[in-house]
Amino acid sequence: MISKLSKSSTKEFIHFALNECREKTLKLLSELDDITFCSQYHPDFSPVGWHLGHIAYTESLWLLEHSAGLKCLFPEYRKLFAADGLPKSERVKLPNLTEIRYYLQTVREKVLEYLEVVDIEPQERLWRFLIQHESQHCEILSYVLELSKIGKGARVQGKNIKLNTQHSTLSTQHSALSTQMVMIPAGEFEMGNNSIDALDNESLCHRVYLNTYWIDRYPVTCRQYREFMAAGGYENPEWWSEAGLQWLQTEQVTQPLYWHSDRSYDDHPVCGVSWYEADAYSRFVGKRLPTEAEWEKAASWDAQAQRRRTYPWGEEMPSLKYCNCDRLIGQTSPVGNYPEGQSPYGLLDTLGNVWEWTASWFTPYQGFQSYPYVGYSQVYFDNKHRVLKGGSWATRLWVARCSFRNWYYPSVRQVFTGFRCATSVN
Ligand code: AVJ
Ligand code: FE
Repeated sequence: MISKLSKSSTKEFIHFALNECREKTLKLLSELDDITFCSQYHPDFSPVGWHLGHIAYTESLWLLEHSAGLKCLFPEYRKLFAADGLPKSERVKLPNLTEIRYYLQTVREKVLEYLEVVDIEPQERLWRFLIQHESQHCEILSYVLELSKIGKGARVQGKNIKLNTQHSTLSTQHSALSTQMVMIPAGEFEMGNNSIDALDNESLCHRVYLNTYWIDRYPVTCRQYREFMAAGGYENPEWWSEAGLQWLQTEQVTQPLYWHSDRSYDDHPVCGVSWYEADAYSRFVGKRLPTEAEWEKAASWDAQAQRRRTYPWGEEMPSLKYCNCDRLIGQTSPVGNYPEGQSPYGLLDTLGNVWEWTASWFTPYQGFQSYPYVGYSQVYFDNKHRVLKGGSWATRLWVARCSFRNWYYPSVRQVFTGFRCATSVN
């Protein structure tokens, strides 16, 4: 009886999560026009329509073909929407929005029929993976939408931007607060995540000893970053690594990709910087980027209870009570806006707002096993990708957690990236 009960509640949960996730996806779609749908705004980022087709394709492949043993529903889409099908530059000849909606809907109907009859227990991890897969592609979709706005000049001219002025009275307070650092005492903590919803790269959970270090309480703000720009940060090689200088010379950038000259963004975290810019700024202020372990300990370790937390505030799902994620606000927010979301060590804005670059390369933990396919994480363990932590304002709830690991080349700035700094104690 008890096992029957828990079985049906697993199903209910998966059903709820699938629906919640898809509703948000469709909501994003409702703001789309046909041109934005199929345009490629950056060579590294496929068009919106591709991501949507790929979501349906992946769901169909793993749940309907591999798991339920059904035949491929839309074989004509296989080549186009498989992750390893076509090069990104050839992903622009797409079915139209109506056809893609039909694809998503048809696959989903079959998936829900299958959910009714499947023995969910042995498969729970796969279903949870697919919810997170859709969540992640939707965040990428948010990047593409932001890039499309830049293309249309919306950002440059400061149009179409809804400003959250709700907390502007805190501004002056923030400017003083935002240089605060927190000391994290030496000791072990638990890193990673073995739970059923953890992705392959998050496990195995393991204990890590760290020496005492200091870490910024808040992500670096636009106000702070402006000082770097004003001091000639982009012209002075002194602050840049060799690889960073090379990148700078090729790209010729002078400000973050999602920079606002509008001073009302002063207390927002800087957004749209490459790892090289984050690294250069850190040297400029006499600090460095935190390692992934340093970031995760400061965000998730409860030293008093000697336990890791799923979220900085505990175990409750992310919401506006705790952080700016899930596109609930639609842009970055001033740092420190979510005091309820602070970590046991007192860090703010660790989850949501902006992704935070770390000093660490994306490498596997001891005991790593690929799931559900080698191309998910393992092919990126090439010491060419840096780890990002914490999620952005566009990160879905199903992937916002302290152990989550994102990874990109250090040159990438289209993602909603910021950072905070750390220092060692000698
Ligand atoms: C974790 C965001 C780097 O975009 O390649 C989506 C997520 N993997 N489908 C990526 C992903 C497979 C992944 N990132
Ligand atoms: Fe994918």
